[in-house]
Amino acid sequence: MCGIFAYLNYRVPRSRRDILQTLVKGLQRLEYRGYDSAGVAVDGPGKDNGTSIALFKKKGKVKALDEEIYKNESVDLDAQLDTHFGIAHTRWATHGEPSAVNSHPQRSDKNNEFVVIHNGIITNYKELKKYLGSKGYEFESETDTEVIPKLIKYLYDNRESDSVSFSTLVERVIKQLEASDEGAFALVFKSIHFPGEAVATRRGSPLLIGVRSQYELSTEQIPVQYNRGDSTIEVEEEKNFRNRQGSINALHSVHDGMAVEFYFASDASAIIEHTNKVIYLEDDDVAVVNEGKLYVHRVKSAAGDDPVRVIQTLQMELQQIMKGNFKAFMQKEIFEQPESVFNTMRGRICFDTNEVTLGGLKDHLKEIKRCRRLIIIGCGTSFHAGVATRQILEELTELPVMVELASDFLDRITPVFRDDVCFFISQSGETADTLMALRYCKQRGALTVGITNTVGSSICRETDCGVHINAGPEVGVASTKAYTSQFVSLIMFGLMMSEDRLSLQQRRLEIINGLKKLPELIKEVLSLDDKIKSLADELDHQKSLLVMGRGYNYATCLEGALKIKEITYMHSEGIMAGELKHGPLALIDKHMPVIMIIMKDACYQKCQNALQQVTARQGRPIIICCQNDPEISKMAYKTIELPHTVDCLQGILSVIPLQLISFHLAVLRGYDVDCPRNLAKSVTVE
Ligand code: M6R
Repeated sequence: MCGIFAYLNYRVPRSRRDILQTLVKGLQRLEYRGYDSAGVAVDGPGKDNGTSIALFKKKGKVKALDEEIYKNESVDLDAQLDTHFGIAHTRWATHGEPSAVNSHPQRSDKNNEFVVIHNGIITNYKELKKYLGSKGYEFESETDTEVIPKLIKYLYDNRESDSVSFSTLVERVIKQLEASDEGAFALVFKSIHFPGEAVATRRGSPLLIGVRSQYELSTEQIPVQYNRGDSTIEVEEEKNFRNRQGSINALHSVHDGMAVEFYFASDASAIIEHTNKVIYLEDDDVAVVNEGKLYVHRVKSAAGDDPVRVIQTLQMELQQIMKGNFKAFMQKEIFEQPESVFNTMRGRICFDTNEVTLGGLKDHLKEIKRCRRLIIIGCGTSFHAGVATRQILEELTELPVMVELASDFLDRITPVFRDDVCFFISQSGETADTLMALRYCKQRGALTVGITNTVGSSICRETDCGVHINAGPEVGVASTKAYTSQFVSLIMFGLMMSEDRLSLQQRRLEIINGLKKLPELIKEVLSLDDKIKSLADELDHQKSLLVMGRGYNYATCLEGALKIKEITYMHSEGIMAGELKHGPLALIDKHMPVIMIIMKDACYQKCQNALQQVTARQGRPIIICCQNDPEISKMAYKTIELPHTVDCLQGILSVIPLQLISFHLAVLRGYDVDCPRNLAKSVTVE
């Protein structure tokens, strides 16, 4: 999905080359989100800071953009710019094909008076385009975004006085964009009329600002100004803030005009190498940096609005998001799973007392126990984590559990009640469909619980309570370690719910013991990588691959097939083995590649029956099974033998060979494992 990065240096001398390198590096950190073109805007061409803007845009990879920049000789790369604001963007095409003209920054006119980068979709752009067209503004791209720079120029050209500020113009723009309820945006503006000044705003799309200053920025907060008509209540808010906090450090450090750098980005991975001090903007915030000072205005104020924006300290380390010796982030993330599932459990399961405490849920436990049903909502892999744990959650909570695809849940206008508890599963915490479903459930009074991997994400902030899965940053578009950590988080929730149920104690103990051994068992599965690679070599020439199983391993089939189609572009289908004779059996012959998952659990015999049905049609399946299964080892089929664990945890082990098969197949086929075509890491549009 599109990526935003922008950099403002205030009284910090940087050459234009340094600035461009910072911008390009920021875009590279966002590449994992998926994109098809990229662009940057900096002041140009010489030292006359801010009187003109140079735009560089290119279809394809950030590397191609970087080469394009250095081919251009019209800007002086060695010029020193003491104060400067540059913006950069990776675009994932929604309106208009991938091309330089459609990529961002989008501009107001041929002189580049205003340039804008945008994540999200403007749904009322056609009306705005028509209006601006009628006023003589000429459009050059097919994007929805282009209406924004044109609109701000229109408002600037028709301003009532020369004293109208940049942020006022932006506020006027976004009021027009609000004309559509479904519009989502994160926007960063730059203009030759306001040199060295940055304005950024968001609604529905994430945006954060990193601050690097020589001052200590540990607990500081930024005051929020509320615009009420023409007046602001800045002083009042600031006074309240000072009284309440008893500290004004932040006001000094970011208000006193000393050297400071600001980084704007759609996610923290682009900022973390520069600073770990960040401010997450809320919907309808307009952040302005002028003369080295950061202000946050609210376009609309509402009861309960937080009057401060806290400068948070990110815990993420740069090396956590680096590839190391692995060929791809996805491979690194698959091999991180012994640690990532351990980190999910760390400090939550006490293996001595068999107590499970999810700090983010404990205050709501009574309410959850009283609910009438649990609804688990997500998309893609996150949805599969719900499918994988549904059965054990029904058993441990003794509640009905529905698992829903967020998009379908909304399409159906599903009835939701005050006594429902709705779980929103999302690695990124920003998936638009899941976020919309969350808002839908909140409106209906249900208790909302977030299960996310991204601290500070929209789902984190908007849910009533939640669990952070602590899997560490997941960069590969194909979700791997987030799945196993979501799985473990949901199991821990079930264990917490059943702590006082006498009849379930035996089962709880069995699962807790299984969880304790899980990291070691995952390592054992990962040690099968060479064997799994040789099976992938044999599958490379195939066009299709069916993955079959049932019970606790049905979710593994869905998730394995999703991984295969997502990064190898091979057709793949996860099939519930119980459904074979209701249709899919017609696909089976000696040519159709099949993987069957047959683990030692309550479905074992039924899976054996499915195997018979497949082999009777000359199918030659690869079988994922338990180590030393006498029934299976006497057959002449290829196997991947896994250590045995508790039935409800087995899916954590059985998904790993499928993650590895898909990775090896994608490498064999020469595809970009981490950035599969047409897909994005964070799907922030509906
Ligand atoms: O960030 P989320 O978990 O909400 O993302 C949901 C899906 O887009 C995501 O799981 C997707 O299916 C993965 N790329 C699959 O590997």
